[in-house]
Order: sequence, then C-alpha cells, then structure tokens
Amino acid sequence: MLVASNRGPVSYAVADDGSLRSKRGGGGLVSGLSAIGPESGALWVCSALSDDDREAVRRGVGEDGVRMLDIPAGVHADAYNGIANSVLWFVHHMLYQTPLEPVFDAEFRSKWASYETYNRAFAEALAEEAAEGAAVLVQDYHLTLVPGMLRELRPDLRIGHFSHTPWAPPEYFAMLPDDIARQVLRGMLGADRLGFLTHRWADAFTACCERFAGGLGDTRVGVHGLGADADFLRARSHEADVDERMAALKEEIGEGRRTIVRVDRTELSKNIVRGLLAYRQLLDDRPEWRERVVHVAFAYPSRQDLAVYRDYTAEVQRLAGEINDRYGTPGWRPVVLHVKDDFARSLAAYRLADVALVNPIRDGMNLVAKEVPVVSDAGCALVLSREAGAHEELGEDAITVNPYDVVQTAEALHEALSMRPEDRTERGKRLAAAATALPPARWFLDQLDALRGGTGR
Ligand code: G6P
Repeated sequence: MLVASNRGPVSYAVADDGSLRSKRGGGGLVSGLSAIGPESGALWVCSALSDDDREAVRRGVGEDGVRMLDIPAGVHADAYNGIANSVLWFVHHMLYQTPLEPVFDAEFRSKWASYETYNRAFAEALAEEAAEGAAVLVQDYHLTLVPGMLRELRPDLRIGHFSHTPWAPPEYFAMLPDDIARQVLRGMLGADRLGFLTHRWADAFTACCERFAGGLGDTRVGVHGLGADADFLRARSHEADVDERMAALKEEIGEGRRTIVRVDRTELSKNIVRGLLAYRQLLDDRPEWRERVVHVAFAYPSRQDLAVYRDYTAEVQRLAGEINDRYGTPGWRPVVLHVKDDFARSLAAYRLADVALVNPIRDGMNLVAKEVPVVSDAGCALVLSREAGAHEELGEDAITVNPYDVVQTAEALHEALSMRPEDRTERGKRLAAAATALPPARWFLDQLDALRGGTGR
C-alpha cells in the first residue's frame, strides 16, 4: 500500500549545530493519515517542502516508510503556491474577489507546466515503488493529475484519490480555462475510486464531471467523513504540558470568565476576521458580557509565502488589537490572540472552552469542530458555519450560522454563552459522539477496503 501527498508526516529543520531535527507535519490531512503507523508496511510518498527538507533528502536522512521527493524548489513553488494554493484552493473554497481575479494569463500557463512536472514526479515515484497490484491512495488538490498519469504507467495498480477540501460547484469550477478544467477532471478520473468528506462535495464533483467530462465513466465515488481520534485526544490533553498551558491560559483569561475558543491555521477560508467582528458585535449588542467573557483565538501561521495570507494575518492581529484597545479594562483583555503554533496550548484551550467558534466560509470538514467537544472538560456549545463539511454530521446539536452574517453570528455567540449547563452538557455529549463516529484508523481502512473490494478497471 502506498500513500501520496504534498505534505508528509515529518518536516526537517537544520539546527545551529548543523544536525537535522524532525517535526510532525500539520493540517487535517496529516492528522487523518497519521493513523497508519510504520507497522502497516505502507510507504508514504511526499514532497520536500523547504530547503531543510531537501537537505535531509540529500543527506539520506529519513524515516522508515516515508519517501520524500526532492522536487526542485522553483517547480515546487510554482506548483504548490502558484497553482495548488492560489488557484485550486481558491476555486474549491470560492475565495476569489472576482472583479479582479482570477486572471489566467501566460504566467498561469507557465506555472501550470510546473504543476504537471510536479504531478509527474509523484506518478513516476509511485510507479517505481509499487508492487504488482498494490493499492495507491493519492491525496488532495495538489495531486489531481497523478491518478491519470499513474494509470498510464501502471495499469495493474488500484488507484484511489481522496479530497480533503470541498469541491467547487460547476458554475464556479467553470472559471478555470476549459482545457485545464478537463485535465483536472480527467486526471482524477484516472482513479478507480474517489473519496470525499461529505455528500455535498461528492455531488459537486459528479456534477462537474457531467458538465465538463462526459460523466464519471467507470470511476466510483464514495464519502468518508473523517472523525476525531478520541482516544489519542483524551490521553494527550491530560499530559503535564497541557496542564501547564492551562494554568497560564487561566491567568490570561482571569477568574470566573466564560471563553469563546477558536483554533485555526491563519487561513483565508477560516473566516477569522468575521469571527472577531462578530465578537465585537456581541460586546456592542450585549454589554452584559463585557468583563465576563474572553475570546481565545489561536491563529497559527500558514502559507506565509503568499502575500494575501500575510495581509490576512496582519488584519487578524490589527482587529484583535483594536477590540482590546476599545473595550479592554485594566483587569480584562477581551481577546487573547496567539499566533505561535503550540499543540499543547491548543488542547488546553479546548479543555477550557465554554463555546467553540467554527465559522469558515467553506471547509472540507474542519476537525476542530469535532475535536473541541471531545476534549472540553465541561462540554462546550458549538457555533458552527453551515458551510463547514462537519455541519453535515454535527448540525443538529450545533448553533448554525451563515458565515457572512456577523450580526447573526454575534447572536449565536450570545445564545451559546447563555445555554443552560445541562443543555450544554447533553448537546456536548451528542456532538462528541457524532464527532468520533469514524475515527482516523477506521476512516482509512474503509477507503482501502472499498478500493480493494470493488471491481476495478
Ligand atoms: C488542508 C489541506 C491539506 C494541507 C493542510 C495544511 O487540510 O487539505 O492538504 O496539508 O490544509 O496546509 P499546507 O498548505 O500547510 O499543507
């Protein structure tokens, strides 16, 4: 069995003494796939993402079961930043400000050529490594062309592809140049089986194929809603470093106050800015909450090579500062914002959460929405965007919001903060049960079984 993804389970950093240190990768994809430990005998093919990763490959440093591809920095930058994150991510999350973007010009075409080269490097590595008839599970929008390329090189393989993102509806997908749209769909349709996180994204993909590629052909489509890893999270969130972070956070929050918690990558689609605007609206509309609530917002750096992500990060920081200046008092800081990634502190915030705010513009699943109810000590209320994939499973026990409506979101925060403790506990339990229905290991094995069990081509 082989897995292929842009980001692998480890990344490297050259330390001051010249030695290489390894670190666990982040994001929903890595969390889900980490369920397959080295004992599975699987090979995980991923890309070197930095100069230090490339250095590790050149020195022959690596982990068992992981093959990192030394793709030239320029090719990777164009494929990852230029196409995957600036075009395909924007299309599937519907993030463009369309009066001015996207513009598909000659520069786009040149970056697309790098995207093809990068996909080909994966297809060739997989073709080289795979045993006769092996199952190959390709991940995400970075690698849409791999299934088709690999099918040509190795018709004997069982090829699956899984999308951790939403899929764009046909009207929005149609923004891509016609030939590129067809190439993406045909690349995907090289797989025997395609997986999505929700029915909504699977249906959007099917609709795109009907409109632009003459249908699905023989490719099967399935839905696997990745759940939270309850055993791991409950154990990890009671380790000593998390207790330490909890003590520090309690200091920052202050005695007897409620908490509204959010934890995200600083990602355009996560809607952190409107979350802050909604919190400000709450303090305006419901002054009784002043001094009695703190918005704990962790926004960890992501994709900082892209100017629009850097600008977004700056706006999050500016707005948090503005709210603190306007409403703060000597004993109360309304927003506690942290931007330095710290997993133990995230778990500490989960444990303390009275309310979890998960309001993305659009999101494949959003694991945070599933993790907080599992970890929170007293059971939390969940304010959840109807555009998050997780809403398909958690909607019934969450307070649903339209992510663009900050007045409604403010009202939802008030409702969540005011929920009777016994309701909150009850709902919290049901949320946690729904959130853990398909733990990562099962999620992965289900896909593998379905891929092996079906009649391939
Ligand atoms: C999402 C994507 C993943 C990606 C992760 C982190 O979860 O679906 O493929 O790895 O975000 O983003 P990054 O660009 O840092 O890998």
